[in-house]
Amino acid sequence: MRTVEWDQGAVKMIDQRALPWKLEFVRLETVEAVAEGIRNMTVRGAPAIGAAAGFGLALAAQRSDAETSDKLVSDLIEQGDKLKAARPTAVNLAWAVDKLLQIAGSGAFKSPAELRAGLLAAAQEIADEDVAVNSRMGRHGAALVKDGATVLHHCNTGALATVDFGTALGVVRAAFEAGKDIHVLLDETRPRLQGARLSAWELEQLGVSYDIIPDAAAGYFMQKGEVDIILVGADRIAANGDFANKIGTYQLAIMAQAHAISFYTVAPTSTIDLAVSSGDQIPIEERDPAEVTTPYGNPIVPGRFKARNPAFDVTPHRYLSGIVTEHGIARPPYTESLRRAVAGEKV
Ligand code: MRU
Repeated sequence: MRTVEWDQGAVKMIDQRALPWKLEFVRLETVEAVAEGIRNMTVRGAPAIGAAAGFGLALAAQRSDAETSDKLVSDLIEQGDKLKAARPTAVNLAWAVDKLLQIAGSGAFKSPAELRAGLLAAAQEIADEDVAVNSRMGRHGAALVKDGATVLHHCNTGALATVDFGTALGVVRAAFEAGKDIHVLLDETRPRLQGARLSAWELEQLGVSYDIIPDAAAGYFMQKGEVDIILVGADRIAANGDFANKIGTYQLAIMAQAHAISFYTVAPTSTIDLAVSSGDQIPIEERDPAEVTTPYGNPIVPGRFKARNPAFDVTPHRYLSGIVTEHGIARPPYTESLRRAVAGEKV
């Protein structure tokens, strides 16, 4: 089962808003619907929204009535902007759109029909490659997780956040499948509860032992000596190793350092943005305050109360023990190791 896939002229995805109560799929038949699905988090997780955007642009190509390749490319640039505007922080979204636009503009296709077919094949390759890359990251990262370890994890970075397998939770999966005895403490991850709803649902399917914990309990468990390693994902990694991830990651990093606990981010090279030299340049999405005041439609404070809802924070690279990529584990200086990883070299 893939989180997002092409389905006979539409983009099919798991509706992550309905989990864990119901496993439902939606078929999105226009690029606007795909952009809205990304915005409203029907699909979420940096690699998954990259794959969804790739299929969304392939869909835009199929739907365009352009009769020349030039006209089709200019339609695609416009539709690509709609997709890119859906969510600003995870760079995988722009990465996938720009990759397809580059292919579309390469002049390699003899007709609009060939271009449409070529874009769909390229979108499919992004999705297939994501699964392959995740399983490679899983193998690299599994070496960091000792038999009997307790892993602290934030948000959802499993199969649902990707096309399949996952990033940080992919490492947990790989270690578990290698026969290690592992326990996972899952931060519930307010306000949208990706940890409590999605990561717990995934670990249930895999049979991995876990406990959901309130976000604010992470420091408690570190102080008690109950955390051996912290594994998180990333939505965008700057050239110097600073990275944006789900809100709450920064405070975990500081607590990890205070307790001398290893702290790794696990992300494919499609999440590395070498055009951004440090984390302060990463755009941070602020979402609707109603996600804080009225989670899942249940008001927990009077409607007139104000709230702020930044969806991500930036963790400076100095708190990292390393960055697990599909080409190995990048270590400082990250400006050097990340550049090599993006070039496809072993790190
Ligand atoms: O807002 P979301 O759920 O799309 O957040 C993205 C994430 O899933 C996390 O930040 C994750 O750690 C990085 S994506 C594997």
